[in-house]
Amino acid sequence: MEKNKWEALVKFITIVLGLQWGDEGKGKLLLKLLEGFDAILRFNGGHNAGHSLEADGVKFVSHILPSGALAPGKECWIGGNVLVNPIALKKEINELESKGVQFRIANRLYLDYRGILASPFDCFIDAAEEAIKAQSGTTVGTTGRGIGPGYMYDTGRNGLRLGDLLLPGFKQKCRRHFDYQRSLLIHFYSEYGYVCTTEMLNTAEAEWNQAVDFIDTNWICNLTERAYEFAAAGKKILAEGAQAYMLDRVLGDYPNVTSSNTTTAGLLISLGLPHTVIKEVWGVTKPYATKVGEGYFPSEMDEKTAEIFRKAGNEYGASTGRPRRIGHLDMQLLMEAIRATGVTKVFFAKADICPVPTMKVVTNYKRKYLSLSEIRKKDLAVKDFTGWGDWKPEQDHMKNQNLNMFFNAVESMFATNLGPEVRIAGYGTGPDRDAIILL
Ligand code: GDP
Ligand code: IMO
Ligand code: MG
Repeated sequence: MEKNKWEALVKFITIVLGLQWGDEGKGKLLLKLLEGFDAILRFNGGHNAGHSLEADGVKFVSHILPSGALAPGKECWIGGNVLVNPIALKKEINELESKGVQFRIANRLYLDYRGILASPFDCFIDAAEEAIKAQSGTTVGTTGRGIGPGYMYDTGRNGLRLGDLLLPGFKQKCRRHFDYQRSLLIHFYSEYGYVCTTEMLNTAEAEWNQAVDFIDTNWICNLTERAYEFAAAGKKILAEGAQAYMLDRVLGDYPNVTSSNTTTAGLLISLGLPHTVIKEVWGVTKPYATKVGEGYFPSEMDEKTAEIFRKAGNEYGASTGRPRRIGHLDMQLLMEAIRATGVTKVFFAKADICPVPTMKVVTNYKRKYLSLSEIRKKDLAVKDFTGWGDWKPEQDHMKNQNLNMFFNAVESMFATNLGPEVRIAGYGTGPDRDAIILL
């Protein structure tokens, strides 16, 4: 008997998530995995993401499009609850096509009608909020992409959705929202020293209008329905997490977080599907940790050692170019992230980056805590591992004894604290798509 829609909704989505503070190397793993999938889905955040992709000599950093954009023939989905900035979307599609990738012509883009449409002024409000916070030393260090305001107006039920583009009242709805935001910027935020002129706002709105015209309304659809069709046809979806567990709006180090839900739960909300759809959850980490922006970072290294890692690992933001803060691998937080997201396959990107003779790992915190702000260096239990050195491409990485010892120790911590099903399922040996070992 043919399966009904409900019965088909089982185990056809694989997720890739960041387990630290972002920039773990998700893009790299996604590129490798996507061969086995029919559609790649972005389900949270906006163009604050920066996923570095290198394949067949083409280098591309995806911000709002899913990483599948680089792979011919794959459908690229942007789910509900993603904040879509039309200017960023247009720029990225144009860049991709200028690199010879067939995109629009191949009809590969699908945008859920519940996606949030960023306004032209969200990024001004982002900057204004940061300027106000700077006066009390409480900036978040956002990417400046208007993410906080975009989500704030959506949860306040004042924002725009992609589906509005199909409705007759779209222009009036924009006018109401834009006039409100303009008024805030000119009259309210200026009182706090953030000044932007009417001319700046007019220029931004004109550019936004052109970018909205660029969006083909045929791209806008109900992705829940499309997912049903995929499930019934036996097709598979790869879901691309942006940001990471520690930046999740609810579970991360609030308020030093982003404004979306970065975990498995974020995926389900974004597609309107139950947990039964999930086949596998991959979590990405590095053998050390990085963070951009403000906030608690218990395992942060001294600046001299951090600089050695920053240079070796090229740790500069893919979106903003900011130097990333560097810390030791923090197993306490890593395991918390794995537990909260249901990860069973852990991927260690950048296993080739080991620029010091001894790699330190925070194995756990010696005290209970509610907020990371309570944790001091003296609360960290730290273990030393012999470094595994620089690798030459021709080396057989699997035979690197020190790396094996490090991985064995990590897996045994997983086994003790999380259960035997959590395994290291692969690692990265360089930035290129093929510099990867899946175990
Ligand atoms: P994402 O946001 O998680 O996709 O990560 P980013 O792209 O922001 O940052 C990861 C950086 O590390 C990029 O510059 C990648 O090219 C690079 N990278 C990814 N995997 C590896 C790896 O296994 N080895 C090395 N050396 N670099 C890698
Ligand atoms: P990918 O997907 C690293 C950080 C910002 C800031 C906080 C809030 O490449 O891993 P926002 O602009 O979202 O309001 O900023 O979140 N942040 C990221 N850090 N990688 C990212 O994305 C990030 N996206 C946001 O630095 O601390
Ligand atoms: Mg990144």
